[in-house]
Amino acid sequence: MAARPLHLGWFMNFTPGEWDSPMAAGGSPWDGRFYVDMAQALERACFDYIMIEDTLMVSEAYGGNSEVYLKHATMAPKHDPAPLAAIIAAATSKIGVVATMSTTFYPPFLLARLASTLDSIAEGRFGWNIVTSGEDGSAQNFGMDKLTEHDLRYDIADEYVDLVCQLWDSWEPDAVIRDRETNTYADFKKVHAIHFAGKYFKSRGPLNTVRSPQGRPTFVQAGGSPKGRQFASKYADSIIAVANGIEGMKSYRDDVRARAAAQGRNPDDIKVLFVVSPILGTTEQEAYARKKAGEEDPNFIEQSLASISSVTDIDFSQFDLDAPLPELETNGERGSLDKFAQWGSGKTLRQLVLDAGGTSNSVDLVGTPDQVAEKIGETMAAVGGDGFLITRPHTTFVSNEYIGDICEGLVPALQRRGLTRTQYTKSTLRETLREF
Ligand SMILES: Cc1cc2nc3c(=O)[nH]c(=O)nc-3n(C[C@H](O)[C@H](O)[C@H](O)COP(=O)(O)O)c2cc1C
Repeated sequence: MAARPLHLGWFMNFTPGEWDSPMAAGGSPWDGRFYVDMAQALERACFDYIMIEDTLMVSEAYGGNSEVYLKHATMAPKHDPAPLAAIIAAATSKIGVVATMSTTFYPPFLLARLASTLDSIAEGRFGWNIVTSGEDGSAQNFGMDKLTEHDLRYDIADEYVDLVCQLWDSWEPDAVIRDRETNTYADFKKVHAIHFAGKYFKSRGPLNTVRSPQGRPTFVQAGGSPKGRQFASKYADSIIAVANGIEGMKSYRDDVRARAAAQGRNPDDIKVLFVVSPILGTTEQEAYARKKAGEEDPNFIEQSLASISSVTDIDFSQFDLDAPLPELETNGERGSLDKFAQWGSGKTLRQLVLDAGGTSNSVDLVGTPDQVAEKIGETMAAVGGDGFLITRPHTTFVSNEYIGDICEGLVPALQRRGLTRTQYTKSTLRETLREF
């Protein structure tokens, strides 16, 4: 048994799902049931949480129009994550359910109420993936010409989180008394206005809903830039990250843990999960053949470039695939650009796309379930912790086959090695993350 098991999360997109493979029936219906089934499979495999990503636009970053995005259903169309989080929560009882919501676009009071409601529905298993958003296209859907400057977005988010935390605390834990003698549901002396007046936001409070089981949702964050890492290490219960190889993961984790300690937090209260996309086969040859088939898919390069274009607002269709990238800057996701570009490596754009594997893979995991489980154990031992955020490989949609590979092939192989949990022992997501 390893000293400390790993935590597992799953990164999912609420998209149409697999629709064009020979085994697909045209895409999962938009009723979300495919993802409910998926969450139940992840719960049987004892994942800590399922994380639903979100952005708020149909991108035109690649090639100057939406053709590639809509043709391949890349990043759009997608549904709102919050209702899906609610139905997943209602159909599960142990797994954490995390939804992405942006501090740049949600009014804080509405976000605080929505997240609190979801935490009540999930009986303490809801998490908020705190993002600041990275695309001008989203800003233009909300009446702005372009996004606020990158670091300023984090300053605003900092005040935003302070405000929503005050709203969540506006109900004391024992405010609901349900006293039949005095015919009183809630004690008004224990529900407080907050009179928040900051630099960017004002809100009177109190929240008009009860305190949720966790008090505040579990916080997930993915800051990659120095400013983003500072923000993440101040608030997050779990940081989700991309990095290049063991060295990259180790230095990222060491950095955010040091930042957390410097801000008076116990670094062990933050679980850093790195994005990976294992590719499995019943034999090693079969796994590598699958990897190769994904890379040789005629759409692979275009879809990969469209994805990185979307999150950075840089049009990657303009660059030569067989030359190194020029120096680039973004007001969007800086950490994601740095991870993709591997500055100074001299690699061609084509090689960068292959390295990323279509998903920002942090380390290559290809082989039989036992081989990959072994490599996961070695990797985590070298990095120091804390676990992985799994997502589908290449640019394909998640499929039942892939969910089965992970939940019925890889996870049992990890469990046999004592590397992941075999049961849940806690009831809230924050407690589950802090169990080890
Ligand atoms: C695994 C992972 C998932 C992310 N999910 C989202 C998301 O759903 N929506 C979003 O707007 N940004 C998402 N991001 C982007 C982050 O919020 C952040 O902008 C990015 O990691 C770059 O950090 P930086 O802005 O500090 O450079 C994600 C990033 C990572 C690594």
